[in-house]
Amino acid sequence: MTSGLRKGLTSYGDPGFSLFLRKAFIKAMGYSDDALDRPIVGITATGSDFNACHGNVPQLIEAVRRGVMLAGGLPMAFPTISIHESFAHPTSMFLRNLMAMDTEEMIRAQPMDAVVLIGGCDKTVPAQLMAAASADVPAVMLLTGPMLVGHHKGEVLGACTDCRRFWARHRAGEIDAAEIEQLSGRLAPTAGTCMVMGTASTMACIAEVLGFALPGTAAIPATHADRLRAAEHSGAAAVAAARAGGPRPAELLTQQAFRNAQVVLHAIGGSTNGLIHLAAIAGRVGLAIDLDTFDRIGREVPVLIDLKPTGSHYMEHFHHAGGMPRLLRELAGLVDLSARTMAGGTLADAAAAAEDVPGQDVIRPRERPIFPVGGMAVLRGNIAPGGAVIKHAAASAHLLQHTGRAVVFDGVEDLTNRIDDPDLDVTADDILVLRYAGPKGAPGMPEAGYLPIPRKLARQGVKDMVRISDARMSGTAFGTIVLHIVPEAQEGGPLAFLRTGDPITLDVAGRRIDVMVSEAELACRRAGWQRPAPPAGSGRGYANLYQRSVLQADVGCDFDFLLPVGTDPPMEPGGTV
Ligand code: FES
Repeated sequence: MTSGLRKGLTSYGDPGFSLFLRKAFIKAMGYSDDALDRPIVGITATGSDFNACHGNVPQLIEAVRRGVMLAGGLPMAFPTISIHESFAHPTSMFLRNLMAMDTEEMIRAQPMDAVVLIGGCDKTVPAQLMAAASADVPAVMLLTGPMLVGHHKGEVLGACTDCRRFWARHRAGEIDAAEIEQLSGRLAPTAGTCMVMGTASTMACIAEVLGFALPGTAAIPATHADRLRAAEHSGAAAVAAARAGGPRPAELLTQQAFRNAQVVLHAIGGSTNGLIHLAAIAGRVGLAIDLDTFDRIGREVPVLIDLKPTGSHYMEHFHHAGGMPRLLRELAGLVDLSARTMAGGTLADAAAAAEDVPGQDVIRPRERPIFPVGGMAVLRGNIAPGGAVIKHAAASAHLLQHTGRAVVFDGVEDLTNRIDDPDLDVTADDILVLRYAGPKGAPGMPEAGYLPIPRKLARQGVKDMVRISDARMSGTAFGTIVLHIVPEAQEGGPLAFLRTGDPITLDVAGRRIDVMVSEAELACRRAGWQRPAPPAGSGRGYANLYQRSVLQADVGCDFDFLLPVGTDPPMEPGGTV
């Protein structure tokens, strides 16, 4: 098998000439023959002036380079797409698969024996893991790391759980324009990813339990010197993997690894988005996440991490309490610790080396959890025959069993136009329904599932209501919110047939979400339903590809043509996990 510069030659019909030409061009950069004979480690350069979550990428690249060279390899940084949550229109999820395609193809197109994937902001890590799974070149995941916490009037703050909390108070008239402006400078005080257990932190933990991120590196703050040392070690680990030819992603992404990831997703009180991304990564190796199995795992695994939005601390506290290795030790028996990692050992090695921090209260023992069962539950019912999810660990206990009248919004624009209308017929006991906000309907399944409390109710002190949708919500959000309803309304799911005034029952204990309307009536409404036109802009280009190819949330919203050849969603050939 060819390696280094000889790998994947450009096709000129003469391999000798291809190598000669490649050397001629790369020597223009001043490399010696000795350097060019080393194992090559690619490094994804995902920094961007639009992406503060990746603000430390230039320093990380330098530290990775150092690690690669100290281990005798040749580092080669190359750019890929960078996606930031707040700078992606219409929504970052629309672009995740594009980043996965870009990353996969650049890993495959350029000669590298291993790659260090530098990612952090929500969609980047899943995109890179999806790419690594498909390219199947040894890959080390280096997270950019979480931001440090902010402070305001003696209170500790974190993006973006507290962004939402303060914005809700601003909407309710409790915080004026000057203070909300001041807060915008305090919620995200350093480079790095959101420092609560949002999607970025969730995916960092998932990357570590899947073995791609080196043990103990998921939660190191972006600006801590340990983050640079982790980068150096990641470079060295990539050289070791390049020399050994593995472990390759396919060797890490086993059924056992995906089960471990589901346990961790529950135990950290992780983002609902993590479930979609995990399904997408599994799909790349022909596996499916079985939602009912995920729910069953959640009944056995308690939430052990005391982080916002489920608890009260932040990622830097998780790191200083021992991070993922300490959590894995706590999860022994629930997680299969024989799973391999890119550090060369197993999760058991990581757990054994975990630091014991006296008095820490961020990583709880199993007998004293934050929440007695896992963070999420899977619901089914006549509204969600293909499933839906609720993060019940971050919901209001009194709303988990609730019947209310539907107040229906047709898409994000309708929601924006009417939610604060003083004449909107809505009470705190109603159930807000958002549809046509799924993978195809919006498009990109935006994080609009956290519907704002109507202003007139917010001003009366209403903090939470049952909200249901085919959209997603930010992992940093909280509330009694049912998400990812499958099939989405745009695909003719039952959500499309609801009407304002229909009684809906949420029964989290029974894992049900149902509309109390007869099957005959629903069938009648279905017969009269017409699929809305695809969203504007879907006629050409990437948006057209997206519209034709995106799958539903239960299988990860990947593109159908990116699954392994011969895989037909819902995926079964490799089995479910
Ligand atoms: Fe990048 Fe939150 S916006 S991680």
